[in-house]
Amino acid sequence: MTSSYGLQGRVAVVTGASRGIGLAVAEGLVAAGARVCVTGRGAEDVRRAAAGLGAVGIAGTVADPAHLRELAELAMDEFGRIDIVVNNAATNQPYGPLMDADPELWREAFTVNVEAPLRLVQYAWRAWMADHGGSVINICTEGATHVGPNVGAYSTTKAALLHMTRQLAGELAPRVRVNSVSPGLVRTEMARFVWEQAENDLAAGLPLGRIGEPEDIARAVLWLASDAAEWITGTDLLVDGGTRVRAAHTATPYAVHERLRSQAPGRDAS
Ligand SMILES: NC(=O)c1ccc[n+]([C@@H]2O[C@H](COP(=O)([O-])OP(=O)(O)OC[C@H]3O[C@@H](n4cnc5c(N)ncnc54)[C@H](OP(=O)(O)O)[C@@H]3O)[C@@H](O)[C@H]2O)c1
Repeated sequence: MTSSYGLQGRVAVVTGASRGIGLAVAEGLVAAGARVCVTGRGAEDVRRAAAGLGAVGIAGTVADPAHLRELAELAMDEFGRIDIVVNNAATNQPYGPLMDADPELWREAFTVNVEAPLRLVQYAWRAWMADHGGSVINICTEGATHVGPNVGAYSTTKAALLHMTRQLAGELAPRVRVNSVSPGLVRTEMARFVWEQAENDLAAGLPLGRIGEPEDIARAVLWLASDAAEWITGTDLLVDGGTRVRAAHTATPYAVHERLRSQAPGRDAS
């Protein structure tokens, strides 16, 4: 991805960057001149992503506070600064009606999707950002502000992340800007159960005529991370191909919700 946003000299940490949106974000940051530190649970995937990017990487789950501390330490040891944090790793489990939600999985969802982003920002703040400034981007979802079938746990965690984004934006200003990007349906592994074998229907229901690609989200993240967005904090940038305005475009039922009703992710899709 070519980039017009100069991030030379900046250092970025991206969670869940071994594939999908996180990898596209990391690629965009590198193309803009940043040095990048990536994570993911799969050690081989992280190694491959880091090697391809010319980045550094460390494998682990964001659910583990020690992993997040090591991640911040790695960035500081290797590069001596942390200017950009992209909280991207997430889980879409437990999937299904809330009355069936396993409390263990519910807690884990909040640990991965809400607590981990806070912890990583705390580590980056203490290590660098409090004194030198920076930019945080949390990846939320278009579905965070309304209800949908079977995604109650996921959406609830993302709604919490959305609120935490604004709270942190107020608390960390003026040094650190904190924003979120909310994707609509994007062609990644996490959402494969939604788009696979239904792409034409899904695209037809979207005002912009196609589902999202990871690069669509990466460009928005890059812009928010850059000085081009220097007067923007506490905002949520919706990147959804017109999902929210589809009612004026088509009278057909919302195809994403139809898929969420009829399909389910594998346990490890997250
Ligand atoms: N795709 C969509 O339609 C869509 C829509 C709205 C929002 N989003 C959001 O976009 C973000 C990225 O999702 P994606 O669609 O790009 O998913 P993806 O293709 O499945 O990639 C997820 C990435 O996160 C890593 N990961 C997952 N759980 C982790 C954990 N506990 N600790 C560390 N790394 C972890 C994965 O590697 P390992 O599995 O090896 O750990 C992988 O690198 C998420 O926050 C998601 O909620 C996606």
